[in-house]
Amino acid sequence: MAVSQTQVWQSAIVVEVSEIARDIKRIVFAPELPVKAEPGSHIDLLVQIDGEDVQRSYSVVDSSEDGSRIAISVFKAPLSRGGSEFMHTVSVGDSMRITQPLQNFPLRVGAQKYVLLAGGIGVTAIANMARVLKRLKADYNLVFVGRSREAMAYFAELEAEHGERLQAHIDDEGTSLKIPELLSDVDQDTELYMCGPIRLMDAVRRTWIERELDLPNLRYETFGNSGWFDPQEFLVRVPKLGLEVVVPPDRSMLEALEDAGADMMFDCRKGECGLCEVRITELTGVIDHRDVFYSERQQRLNQKMNCCVSRVVGVAGKASEGASAQRAVVTIEAH
Ligand code: FES
Repeated sequence: MAVSQTQVWQSAIVVEVSEIARDIKRIVFAPELPVKAEPGSHIDLLVQIDGEDVQRSYSVVDSSEDGSRIAISVFKAPLSRGGSEFMHTVSVGDSMRITQPLQNFPLRVGAQKYVLLAGGIGVTAIANMARVLKRLKADYNLVFVGRSREAMAYFAELEAEHGERLQAHIDDEGTSLKIPELLSDVDQDTELYMCGPIRLMDAVRRTWIERELDLPNLRYETFGNSGWFDPQEFLVRVPKLGLEVVVPPDRSMLEALEDAGADMMFDCRKGECGLCEVRITELTGVIDHRDVFYSERQQRLNQKMNCCVSRVVGVAGKASEGASAQRAVVTIEAH
């Protein structure tokens, strides 16, 4: 689903910072080279982690017609790899390096019906699509899933804007989403766009396949930031390169290998394109596949992994089981 595009980097001044939900900040930029952001677009920007510039991607929540104002929202994740923590320190007047809007989650105009599914902070990728579909008088439903109202960014605005077309499923209020119900109304003429935690998207994808719906009609945005397990430190061995690299919880395996001097292939860095795939030759632990590139069957085989997002955890690595797991080790052949 990733589309290669030329990244145009530019300076941008932060012109607004506000807290719009629990642990979620809205940050508005005035870019030097404004370009209107289409629905589904994102920007890459440079954050400072341990004194180094690191690239992160954020969906554009909204932008002015001429692109002179671009808004993103950032959730301060408890297990942040450092990017969201940095973004929560940004203040009005700061200058940052950002790209012009990039697109790999385009909204196809002209479908008979749309379902837009947003899980938590995933609403940032979906809100602009809903706005455009409303303007186009399209037939759409906006399904917003979250733990509690206070943690759901833009909830009141979306409710006011979309009225009955907004369906909220809130765990705290006992109205959790039931995916079979969500998909029971979906037919071959419906397109579903989703962005949210990998578990939610994976469950939707499975039910979609079970119902034999057209796969091209299921479109998603991932930022590869949530997995089945909490991130842990693990060791990656690349015998051909003579490398043994420790991957800390706040770095991806791709970043750690790059840091160690390995020449890696990649494109999306979001688990969508498969370019960063590495072959696994030995494994002590469990692969936490966080990509949306492989089929479920391919993931189960555990022969390959997309190292930009997927990780390795010790066998007792489930969040509920605490941090007592032994450090996992994976041996790979990089391309
Ligand atoms: S770089 Fe695209 S899946 Fe990893």
